[in-house]
Amino acid sequence: MKEALVQPDLSVRIIESPIPTPGPDEITIQVVTLGINPIDWKAADPQVANALLGMLKAKQYANPGKDIAGYVHSVGSNVQEFKLGDRVASTNHGGGFAEYAIGPGFTTYLLPNHVSFEEAVSYGLGYLTAALNLYKELRLSEPWNPATETTPLVIYGASSTVGAFAVKLARLSNIHPIIAVAGRGAGFVSSLLDSSKGDVVIDYRKGSEHVISEIQRSDPKAQNVLDAISIPESISLLSSIPDPVNRQMSLVLPPEAPTVNPRINITVSFAPLLWEPNDPSGPDGEITARIALKAFAYITFRYLVHAQANHLISPHPCEVLPGGLEEISGGLKNLRDGKNSARKYILRIT
Ligand SMILES: NC(=O)c1ccc[n+]([C@@H]2O[C@H](COP(=O)([O-])OP(=O)(O)OC[C@H]3O[C@@H](n4cnc5c(N)ncnc54)[C@H](OP(=O)(O)O)[C@@H]3O)[C@@H](O)[C@H]2O)c1
Repeated sequence: MKEALVQPDLSVRIIESPIPTPGPDEITIQVVTLGINPIDWKAADPQVANALLGMLKAKQYANPGKDIAGYVHSVGSNVQEFKLGDRVASTNHGGGFAEYAIGPGFTTYLLPNHVSFEEAVSYGLGYLTAALNLYKELRLSEPWNPATETTPLVIYGASSTVGAFAVKLARLSNIHPIIAVAGRGAGFVSSLLDSSKGDVVIDYRKGSEHVISEIQRSDPKAQNVLDAISIPESISLLSSIPDPVNRQMSLVLPPEAPTVNPRINITVSFAPLLWEPNDPSGPDGEITARIALKAFAYITFRYLVHAQANHLISPHPCEVLPGGLEEISGGLKNLRDGKNSARKYILRIT
């Protein structure tokens, strides 16, 4: 099979590799569509990769692709849920920029017939990270036990893949008002909101004073904040909303210390921990947080099957890159250069 290895300059080298054999709890998937995520270009820069992922024990991949959709090609000995030829999507730590790739059992799920492979691959890491932020870090009500009280939520970067799925999940959880911050994608975000429940979109291009005063107008205390961008400017802006008592703020990237207000409870959701090996010599022996994290991912993706089957959720807008695996390079460069707005770059390879 063909596989794409990402080079530090974000060009890709196509190599011939054997089709991967699934481990006992894994599925080998014949890839039809694959998605490109910001971490895929960041991981190609050795310095950035080391800063972001260097503490992980799991292998780092020269083929970093995470989101795939396609047909089940083979299954491991413990896999009961899938059979050959099933239409599935999956998310993994790497290996997805290839004609065949491994999906772990806990992130692989069946696609309802009406969901295309292009739509399916738009969810993946972004959807999972949105759920981690809302439900694991901010501990907000889940869609199967929706909020019964007004629960204001600030989502900064709401047109990003993570941010838009956070908006969609928040609505399914009856979390309102949603105070969404976006720029070029403000129109798209607006289409996701329910203004009758007080949801608003604020344009960050009007400057931080405007954003802060508009957030305060809808949500004076801003106690639940999801920063789906998590750059120093956004963390600093969100931290400087007055009256941060009891504010909890969930990030998608580790903060640089000086931007953090110590009065705010900051947490970082970090999907790569899902693929860390359990640590039998760790403080909890085999019963580590990763077991809970894997269960979280399993349930989150099973809920997605339900939400898709019942037309409760829509995919992130996609731009299908023309051509084959070599086109991954263009998608990575566009992400690095901030060219994408409210869209995910995907590739159809068969
Ligand atoms: N911790 C984890 O496990 C994890 C998992 C996934 C992603 N991430 C990280 O989360 C971030 C988002 O990932 P993604 O896949 O959602 O990205 P994405 O879809 O590529 O994000 C693109 C969006 O970012 C918005 N944006 C760019 N600069 C902005 C700014 N200064 N303020 C507000 N919005 C801005 C743009 O908004 P407009 O077009 O509206 O201007 C654009 O729509 C990345 O840094 C990624 O590495 C972390």
